[in-house]
Amino acid sequence: MIPEDVIEQVRESADIIGIIGESVELKRTGADWRGPCPFHGGKNRNFAVIPKKGLFYCYKCHEAGDVFSYLMKRFGMDYPTAVRDVARRSGIVIPERAAQAGPDPNEPLYGAVAAAHDWFIRQLAELPEAAAAREYLASREITPEQSASLLLGYASRGNASLDAMRALGIGDPVLLRAGLAAKREDGSMVARFRGRLIFPIHDQRGRVVAFGGRILGPGEPKYLNSPESEIFRKGRTLYNLHAARHAMRREESVILVEGYFDVIRLVAAGLENVVAPLGTALTHEQAALIKRYAPGATLLYDSDQAGLKATFRAGDELLRHEVRVKVATMPPGEDPDSLVRKGGAGALEPILADAVDLLERKIQLLERRGWFEDIEHRREALDRLLPTVRAAADPITRELYLSRVAERAGVEKRVLEAEAARQSARAGAAPAAASEEAAVEATGVAPVRERPLASRAEWELLRIMLLGDPWLDLARRQIDPAWIRTPAAKELFRVALGHGERFIPGTDLELSEPAFRLWDRIRARQDELATQDIQSIFDGVWQKLAARPLIIEYLKLKSQLVVGTDVEKGKLMDEMQRRKAEIRQRFPQAYERWMYRRSSARRRPPGRG
Ligand code: GTP
Ligand code: MN
Repeated sequence: MIPEDVIEQVRESADIIGIIGESVELKRTGADWRGPCPFHGGKNRNFAVIPKKGLFYCYKCHEAGDVFSYLMKRFGMDYPTAVRDVARRSGIVIPERAAQAGPDPNEPLYGAVAAAHDWFIRQLAELPEAAAAREYLASREITPEQSASLLLGYASRGNASLDAMRALGIGDPVLLRAGLAAKREDGSMVARFRGRLIFPIHDQRGRVVAFGGRILGPGEPKYLNSPESEIFRKGRTLYNLHAARHAMRREESVILVEGYFDVIRLVAAGLENVVAPLGTALTHEQAALIKRYAPGATLLYDSDQAGLKATFRAGDELLRHEVRVKVATMPPGEDPDSLVRKGGAGALEPILADAVDLLERKIQLLERRGWFEDIEHRREALDRLLPTVRAAADPITRELYLSRVAERAGVEKRVLEAEAARQSARAGAAPAAASEEAAVEATGVAPVRERPLASRAEWELLRIMLLGDPWLDLARRQIDPAWIRTPAAKELFRVALGHGERFIPGTDLELSEPAFRLWDRIRARQDELATQDIQSIFDGVWQKLAARPLIIEYLKLKSQLVVGTDVEKGKLMDEMQRRKAEIRQRFPQAYERWMYRRSSARRRPPGRG
């Protein structure tokens, strides 16, 4: 267990040229070093070491990684050994675990959880009350032998588990810290797991650190997990990883399923490399854990809408960690548990064999919905595919994905690359867009998001309406409420119209907090209006608001250009020209401002203003 920051330090200090140079004859070519690849054993200098990035890469066999993975792949070191080896060369001292200050302060927690686990196992086997649990397992076709080898248990209904732990000399503070007990408001202790089937959750080293408990009949919650504790971090733990990791290494892949029962069913059917996240979306840390043991993953989630959403989320997370991702598709209404229960491991084989690459699966689904047929949908399809392209951290996968999406969506690859880069810039630092139009202009996509702050035009409009009639009446007749996008401004607008003349400062209106604050700020600057030409302000505001839907439509058309065929592009440009002319003719002032903004947006660096 070397701390993550120490590993980072070792990585940064590593002389990757020196270390790889000991076993490969490297020659400098520009910023990189080249040599014959030790992994596929070629003669040509296909093998590159890029010191600036701390990476190696073979252009022929595509073996790639950092200094640690070089040592692991080349010399079969495990991860900690590789880190220590590099640290030693850089003169960085990593304290041995045993040398660290005294015994592990969490030792009592591991002890308590292990004792509880033993007790749960015994209860399941022997307790009369556990007959319901044994029958439940039988009804789900888990044999007593399987349940024993999976180390399942049963937590009885009352607080007997606490008494049993106390009899072993485990004190209440430890039971609380280990998440085995909770304190009631009156100070009394209550067992966390009562009347539940128990799944042990292990850490990577194979120590039990937590439990998942399934209710036996109907009821809520269906599953109850141990709380987070000093020895259990849900987001960094994968169910069954301790048992699956060797098979993951051997088979260079993992099968990811959604739930406990899916895991145990597949394990009982003889598959070894199966893990599940603990009832949450796959986290960053869980993806990193998977990457440590397997370069590839097959996602085997339910095929319903929720399962698909979870699939693509988990898939993108894995891609960010350079894991190759395939998606296996279940027949509707089945999960891995039900499928294997009915048909054995044989039923799963063709499904795993038919698994397709994550991006390909996304494309399939979009195709099935006809999203590549017309230009408008094609643009939306592109917006759905781009996050996955962007998630692909592995340079080769990214290249392949860019080519594939470019081909399928009919975009030039060069344009697509720019688009992907532009979107990631936006994801990194969302521009505090001066206006929605500017945001759309800067990114090329048309996000219809609610803006938190009232725009200048909205503010001006409300300020004028606060003067009462005739302005209020003018607003009622000329302003379409749909033009106002900010929720607080929308609310004020509605209330102002509803209250008519009575919406003059000083009345007690029922406003939401943001609307009230907006009203208050506008009112505070009401005096300034006395010296201004209100009619001309109103005209300007009206133009801006009325032109907005047209401008957004124009930008949406523009965003479709990249996915257009030549013919479609021609039509689009004509259409854009028409819209532009219409905006110019109907709203000359708004048009001027828009054009001005566009030219100044171009001069500004992206991501600002
Ligand atoms: P079974 O009904 O026992 O087959 O469960 P399942 O694995 O099919 O459950 P489901 O697809 O509903 O949920 C998948 C996983 O999400 C479960 O294995 C749990 O890890 C988690 N989960 C489901 N329901 C709950 C819940 O109510 N609370 C918590 N904490 N986790 C849940
Ligand atoms: Mn299930």
